[in-house]
Amino acid sequence: MASISTIAGLAPAPTRHAGLIAWVEQIAALTKPARVHWCDGSEAEKAAIVADLIDKGTLKALDADKRPGSYYAASDPKDVARVESRTFICSAEEIDAGPTNNWAEPGEMRTRLDGLFDGCMAGRTMYVVAFSMGPLGSELSALGVEITDSGYVAVSMGIMTRMGSAALEALGDDGVFVPAVHTLGAPLIEGQADVAWPCNAEKWIVHFPETREIWSYGSGYGGNALLGKKCYALRIASVMARDEGWLAEHMLILKLTDPKGRSKYMAAAFPSACGKTNLAMLQPTLPGWKAETIGDDIAWMRFGDDGRLYAVNPEAGFFGVAPGTSRNTNQNALATLATNTVFTNTALTADGDVWWEGLTKDVPAGMTNWKGVAHDPASGEPAAHPNARFAAPASQCPTIAPEWEDPKGVPIDAILFGGRRASAVPLVTEAFDWEHGVFMGSTVASEGTAAAENAIGELRRDPFAMLPFCGYNMGDYFAHWLALGAKADPAKLPGIFFVNWFRKGEDGTFVWPGFGDNARVLKWIAERLDGEADAVDTPVGRVPAQGALDVEGLSLSEADLATLLEVDAEVWTEEAGLIPPFYVRFGDRLPQALWAQHAALTERLAAVR
Ligand code: GTP
Ligand code: MN
Ligand code: MN
Repeated sequence: MASISTIAGLAPAPTRHAGLIAWVEQIAALTKPARVHWCDGSEAEKAAIVADLIDKGTLKALDADKRPGSYYAASDPKDVARVESRTFICSAEEIDAGPTNNWAEPGEMRTRLDGLFDGCMAGRTMYVVAFSMGPLGSELSALGVEITDSGYVAVSMGIMTRMGSAALEALGDDGVFVPAVHTLGAPLIEGQADVAWPCNAEKWIVHFPETREIWSYGSGYGGNALLGKKCYALRIASVMARDEGWLAEHMLILKLTDPKGRSKYMAAAFPSACGKTNLAMLQPTLPGWKAETIGDDIAWMRFGDDGRLYAVNPEAGFFGVAPGTSRNTNQNALATLATNTVFTNTALTADGDVWWEGLTKDVPAGMTNWKGVAHDPASGEPAAHPNARFAAPASQCPTIAPEWEDPKGVPIDAILFGGRRASAVPLVTEAFDWEHGVFMGSTVASEGTAAAENAIGELRRDPFAMLPFCGYNMGDYFAHWLALGAKADPAKLPGIFFVNWFRKGEDGTFVWPGFGDNARVLKWIAERLDGEADAVDTPVGRVPAQGALDVEGLSLSEADLATLLEVDAEVWTEEAGLIPPFYVRFGDRLPQALWAQHAALTERLAAVR
């Protein structure tokens, strides 16, 4: 085993940041890698790591004419998604993790991690990956350093973040960074052959919110291993945001421009698999309207000196769900994936390209499925894993907004919440004010789909679409949203809206066409912000007045339109009754203002029944 001095001798640290060097040496001493490599983020470095991964069988190069600069990985079949049951928030007090997170006592967890990480990188290269979440040098950005023994993670971090020398430089000699340690948990003893996708059956995704540290053990996949994304940009950042007075949210950011050239910036929080990436890249079906993309998954937002709320996308790439992405649903995503993309757990075609369910109507013959065996269409098994993902540079998106990397961020005009609701919830509702909007956000719920773990039709509460991502007590999180709104100038606060593309008719099909036609809803929202569109008050909020929603050219019947905008007091009384059993889970951490909002809703419903 190489000693620390040997390792340091092999890889002189390209930084004078004494705290960083000491931490890297400490982690190397614990994990005992064969080599240490400080990533510079260059093309040459990427080529070298990719060559090594191809050698090991982790990556396959895709056909250079069909998909230049792109690679394919198939994971271990047991390492395909985030593991919420193995994700921990280790705050000093259990109550500060709240009822929606797994908690473990920090001291006990540290002892456990010390044991797990002892020698865990033996035989492997330890990559030191400095990264910036958000545009380099922006006041809204923050820095991190991930130590990982996975080349796949190092390459993916190069797509998903601003990684390497520039981030190290931004860190300077004593800059603050979030330390994040990741291991596959698969040490190699001398002479032991490696496998294509090393990982461990045991997995731990651990956050220490008070000391702002991340430790991830046993998984090589996505949200478990690319620690800049869910672990840092949401779980740890939500805690930083609480303490420093800003917001770290599971939101897309888009820019909508009307035919007169007036632009609005909108941020939207929908639970996973409820359409953020699709809305972020939408192609409006309305003539003269233009939509541009700023982010598809995470928004960091802070009030500026002018009193407005400014947002940046902390990421530099899209890590999106592949299945269902097609020319018809998301042409811009497909164009983004044309080059320089890493695909994981899609199917491989006979001619060296990738495929997934929904990409084309015809299923190509001769494919290899994500498990590495010949795809048999008669088996009924999908060729791609339902959670197959792409990692692609955001700069390649044809609709990326020119200001997407503006260090100032973009001023948010509207915040949208939404979920997958077959009944009850109208196509669009405007909140009466900020506090009512926070109430709406706190009640976001989605119905189970065939792919989700809850039963079909059963409601899963996912407040602010942050259930798996809030790094502290969600009761306190609601209070934080209320406090920020109370401090702000009401005239400068974004409007808050609730949308639902998923209302179903009696025949069980979606009533609203969705996708590009969602621009019609965004148009009403933009016109509301400008005081140009009419709304009617209902007990649950304001909905478009008759004729206010632009449905020209759609084949929607009057009855369909009525279904989409209806607020049924009977149904909503039942719906409102489901909120208290959810709220009581937070005990006295649930702000009184939200109980008052619930009481006011109940009263408004009683008045119309
Ligand atoms: P994460 O990246 O996991 O956070 O999820 P996401 O919110 O980005 O989800 P994504 O955009 O990948 O959602 C995809 C699913 O929603 C697919 O099944 C889409 O077909 C469906 N979807 C997206 N927009 C619409 C819409 O307007 N109408 C309907 N009916 N389905 C939609
Ligand atoms: Mn997405
Ligand atoms: Mn997400």
